[in-house]
Amino acid sequence: MCGIIGYVGKKCTAPILIDGLKRLEYRGYDSAGLAIVSDGRIASEKAVGKVKRMEDAALAQPGFMKLCGCGIAHTRWATHGAPSEVNAHPHFNMDHTIAVVHNGIIENYQDLRRRLEAKGCKFASQTDSEVIAHMISEAYQGDLLAATAAILDQLNGTYGIAVVSSAQPGLIVVARKGSPIVIGLGEGENLVASDVSPLLPHTRQVIYLEDGDIAAITAEKVDLRSVKNVPVEREVAKIDWDAGAAEKGNFAHFMLKEIFEQPESIANAIRGRVDHELGSAILNGMNLSPRELAQITHIVIAGCGSSMHAGLVGEYYFEDIAGISTSVEQAAEFRYRNPIIEPNTLVIPISQSGETADTIAAVREAVQKGAIVTAICNVVGSTIAREAGRGVYLHAGPEISVASTKAFSSQVVMLLLFALRLGRNRRFSRSDGMLLANEIERIPELVREVLAQAPQIEKIAKRYAHNENFFFIGRGCLYPAALEGALKLKEISYIHAEGYHAAELKHGPISLLDEHHPVVALANDIPGKDKIIGNIQECRARRAPVIAVATRGDKQVLEMADAVIEVPPCSRFVAPLPTAVALQLLAYYTAVERGCEVDQPRNLAKSVTVE
Ligand code: M6R
Repeated sequence: MCGIIGYVGKKCTAPILIDGLKRLEYRGYDSAGLAIVSDGRIASEKAVGKVKRMEDAALAQPGFMKLCGCGIAHTRWATHGAPSEVNAHPHFNMDHTIAVVHNGIIENYQDLRRRLEAKGCKFASQTDSEVIAHMISEAYQGDLLAATAAILDQLNGTYGIAVVSSAQPGLIVVARKGSPIVIGLGEGENLVASDVSPLLPHTRQVIYLEDGDIAAITAEKVDLRSVKNVPVEREVAKIDWDAGAAEKGNFAHFMLKEIFEQPESIANAIRGRVDHELGSAILNGMNLSPRELAQITHIVIAGCGSSMHAGLVGEYYFEDIAGISTSVEQAAEFRYRNPIIEPNTLVIPISQSGETADTIAAVREAVQKGAIVTAICNVVGSTIAREAGRGVYLHAGPEISVASTKAFSSQVVMLLLFALRLGRNRRFSRSDGMLLANEIERIPELVREVLAQAPQIEKIAKRYAHNENFFFIGRGCLYPAALEGALKLKEISYIHAEGYHAAELKHGPISLLDEHHPVVALANDIPGKDKIIGNIQECRARRAPVIAVATRGDKQVLEMADAVIEVPPCSRFVAPLPTAVALQLLAYYTAVERGCEVDQPRNLAKSVTVE
């Protein structure tokens, strides 16, 4: 949540910061602001709403876009204080000589604020972040790095901060505890950011700060230290995403682009990981020997939102393919309900961003309880990837749209590979493994076939987009696909949508059905289809329009449903993937029809980095 970008070098600073903010906008879009140190002062601009509004205000300031030197900028997802211009970052000390941008939450800010106010400090905003600017100002004696380091241990909570001072032009100080900061290394220039996406047009060489790190960054040098002022060394990582990967190209929205990227992103997840000879999967990042794998007695999957839904699909895989009892935890609950973690429990945290606060907390709890932890993440070098110690990357490329699409499908594929590997350690035969391995290799093609039906799905979406309530129903491993379909629809179209196990309808929800309440029924031709057929009849008997997802050519479903989205025939294990893609398209076209901000739905941000 919230995005930070900073630049130090010779180029005009505002255009670089504004471009960076636009690339970060998926992290929050309540307000935006920037501060540039130039000619011994800090010039700044802020605006409520999208970065574009702030850009327009900056363009209207004569000469602002030509200022060169160093600067910091921020796009905000409001936590403390309403979305307003005063609450937009950067925040300043009283004489406007120090500016700070902050991601995270300062939990003890009220105590700190009271102490500062008692000493005569005047606050401009209602945010927790502003205390940082006043505290650094109070500690400042000509050395911004030292002043920042001096106050950090008074801050409870989490922070990723970037600080500039008009007294030290050409210098950005950054610090991290619980909220990511990445340094981008350039030629005669350096950048800082809260994630790598705004750095891609400038450099591929990055340093990920660790918690407790603080750094002084000039155009020529990065001086990296611990808060105790001891120099530290961090590896320079190379980002292999190209800049185009984080751009929309010819697509109307990032979400559509990312939906259409799935044949490739899934192929990337599979590449080099299928062992046809042994009918198994190769997941080196798990770093577990066959003996260790054989000793796993229970699996706990933890995640939030779509990542948790992927985990629910995984639960079916691990129990059915590997015969290992599996439970899926909402990451937000994991540490509070004191889960039972026995010595041979494998905990799998799943997170696209690797920065979701609750999933990070789950990882820490699992590590602390002595579990074997192996993460599934997309963002390389993210907190979860690093703290879990072992895991696999999705290689899906940057996912910019707030609604997760390609990360979800790759997570499901990764869980299927994982289950295959564990299954082959146990009861899954080589021949069954070979069949499943072949099915897994087919997934990109199955998804391509669904994408080819986008125009038909668009028509269906337009027909039903005016309804305000939807149910999604499924059974078996299509039940989590129903949950995911409902989440996708509600988050981007603002339609109230609920996912249910099809059998649950009769336990209450069915009372809501009428002709204005469509039901999306996942009626693929896999075990359990006959039961779903019965559930479709029950919905129709209550006059609810039924949109069915069905296996291509299934006449029975075609005759029964009001609209049918066809998916190619495939096994039950693979079925959630083409189905999820069909539902992503349904949600996308519905949101477009309703004129919604598809990539940046109201009230949301891409990474939920606070509890
Ligand atoms: O980065 P993560 O996978 O940890 O994010 C988890 C959820 O915040 C995320 O999946 C969210 O539910 C998406 N907006 C769903 O489309």
